Amino acid sequence: ETSEQKQLIELHEQTVKLYHHILVNTKMGRTALDYLHKRGVNDETINVYQLGYAPQTRLLKPFFDERKVDYQVLRKSGLFSENQEGQLRDRFVDRVMYPIRNASGQTVAFSGRLLTKNPDLPKYLNSPETELFNKRKILFNLDLARPNIRRHQPALLFEGFMDVISAYQGGIKSGIASMGTSLTEQQIYDIQRITREVVVCYDGDTPGQKAIKRAIDAFKQTNHQLDLKVVSIPDGMDPDEFIRHRGADKFKALLQHAESPIEFDLNYLKQQANLESEEGQAAYISEALKLISTVRSDISKDLYLNRLADEFAIDKQVLKQQLQPLIRKKV
Ligand code: CTP
Ligand code: MN
Ligand code: MN
Ligand code: MN
Ligand code: MN
Repeated sequence: ETSEQKQLIELHEQTVKLYHHILVNTKMGRTALDYLHKRGVNDETINVYQLGYAPQTRLLKPFFDERKVDYQVLRKSGLFSENQEGQLRDRFVDRVMYPIRNASGQTVAFSGRLLTKNPDLPKYLNSPETELFNKRKILFNLDLARPNIRRHQPALLFEGFMDVISAYQGGIKSGIASMGTSLTEQQIYDIQRITREVVVCYDGDTPGQKAIKRAIDAFKQTNHQLDLKVVSIPDGMDPDEFIRHRGADKFKALLQHAESPIEFDLNYLKQQANLESEEGQAAYISEALKLISTVRSDISKDLYLNRLADEFAIDKQVLKQQLQPLIRKKV
């Protein structure tokens, strides 16, 4: 940690406090606080995550000017945007603020959420890349989740902030989030350093299902030793919505029924397939066999073959014959 990094972290810690104070103690923060309460976030959770509010009036720049913080430090923090004359102004305006901490628990960035839909602005605005923050290298909530994961709870991989936070509030405290981006090698590496068990809990909507597919592929590509499971959230909900509407216990039940990546892949394939036509069925079966050929255990392979044979009333021996060359090709 260089002295500049120290200064930048200090700046972030002060910003966390200021935005949190505005949210919980001031009239300016009232609408944002109501917004969070309406979303079911309670005061304890707001405190744990030090959620905040960046008001309409830009306060951060004058706050640090008063404290004589060095211009270059402000400039490098990512908390300000810069015009052509090099003048800085608060980047985050009228947004609920989510501090993003690194694995050591230091705040290194923010994400700010709009209170109301605005087609001209991004729903979440993140800090840009800085000396402290690289979105591809960070997992939201890893610092709080790590001790629980080490106590043998599986790591739960979510898409977003509110999924992690709702789960935490519901007593499910081993959640981390890739913050919407596809999972990187670095993130997978950081996960497997602390656990073998990961449950992917992405959103139940179409983009979420696609992201699960990509995450499974990303895990496959690294040489990991992870026991990977996948949860599909019903009715297009995301984990936050599911927990809010059905409760944390129902979510825990979903976790109990998490499926293996191969089961997810097979289901996903099936949803894309046109099983009305014979050609569609044949295409599905041939793709399904390719997937089954990648399963390591012979017993599991056999189980999936049985299922496929039953599903389409095909002779299992025929499927087995088709499978053999696919397996050999892989070696
Ligand atoms: N995200 C982002 N920028 C956006 C949209 C999304 O960085 N413009 C990231 C955020 O980390 C977000 C995650 O992607 O939490 C998942 O996106 P999405 O499912 O669309 O948002 P939710 O997490 O469901 O947010 P909310 O419930 O507040 O609408
Ligand atoms: Mn507080
Ligand atoms: Mn989503
Ligand atoms: Mn979502
Ligand atoms: Mn959501």
